[in-house]
Amino acid sequence: MTNITAAITAIHGYVPPKILSNADLEKMVDTNDEWISSRTGIKERRILAEELGTSDMAVEAVNGLLKKRGILASEIDFIIFCTITPDMVFPSTACVLADKIGAINAFGYDLGAACSGFIFGLETGSRFIQSGAYKKVLVIGGDKMSSIIDYTDRNTCVIFGDGCGCVLLEPNYEGFGVIDSVLKIDGSGREFLHQKAGGSLKPASHETVDAREHFVFQEGKTVFKFAVKGMADVSAEIMERNNLVADDIAWLVPHQANLRIIDATANRMGLDKEKVMINIDHFGNTTNGTIPLLLWEWENKLNKGDNLVLAAFGGGFTWGAIYVKWAI
Ligand code: UT7
Repeated sequence: MTNITAAITAIHGYVPPKILSNADLEKMVDTNDEWISSRTGIKERRILAEELGTSDMAVEAVNGLLKKRGILASEIDFIIFCTITPDMVFPSTACVLADKIGAINAFGYDLGAACSGFIFGLETGSRFIQSGAYKKVLVIGGDKMSSIIDYTDRNTCVIFGDGCGCVLLEPNYEGFGVIDSVLKIDGSGREFLHQKAGGSLKPASHETVDAREHFVFQEGKTVFKFAVKGMADVSAEIMERNNLVADDIAWLVPHQANLRIIDATANRMGLDKEKVMINIDHFGNTTNGTIPLLLWEWENKLNKGDNLVLAAFGGGFTWGAIYVKWAI
């Protein structure tokens, strides 16, 4: 262990301008605003133009971040691109992004952990900083969920949206930044949330397209049960491990899958609603984008020294919580 911590020194985000509202969805599938609002908390979500990919949202987010921090893309050492909707199966979206923004001195790769991707990426980037070998690490969470959503399936199409956020990690010597993490995977949950075809197990064919197997499949009720327990358990564990009580925590920054899951986590932590960041109402579930987009939207309310708990649950299953001491 070194005395270096990885501080978040800049943050930015991007969502596409096109809005898909609950009223729009009422015209597409058998659903209604009342059902969507009461079961999920979602009112509207953003949809990226069909001809664009996840990297295009990241270009906007990262260029905004670089401008804010006053650095050049060529100063970035390492890019971790957390996504389940890469531009292509290969090369990685990190490569595509590096080329588009001119990050000519970086290496990088994509990280796939579904909705927990961003916090897994944050832990990974943090360790690279702690090693002392890397000084400027970009962690990006972004997804064009509309590219893998079946807009004839009311079970899933009302939930997801497109968006991308990013943070810059830099060394800190005063104890700010990523302090601790509890991260978990359990692949026995894969049957409840997955994309059936398009991987090596079941490559694309006429049959898989006809059977609509290139879209998100979710058994919502089962995932809900695991998510409520999983996200609350790790959030409580990270508090205990770091001797934090509710009063010590400035913000819960939860993955935005369902308002009811978020409420359950906040209750377990003993937190008031005022301390919980929420953007599910206007962005829906942006998968890897939810947590960095929250930090971006709340940036002006964050103060140096604030204790944040970032928590997520997603496909895999994957889940975890990270304790961050805000550095800027
Ligand atoms: O981010 C990654 C991790 N994912 C999650 O954490 C998601 C966890 N799951 C959930 O958030 C919830 O399970 C959902 C929001 C996906 C679904 O809510 P639910 O309360 O579990 O509803 P359900 O799937 O049990 O469906 C209840 C009823 C069903 O009708 P019947 O069988 O009771 O007649 C559905 O067919 O609601 C029906 N339904 C809908 N009705 C109107 C399902 N989708 C819709 C819809 N509009 N869009």
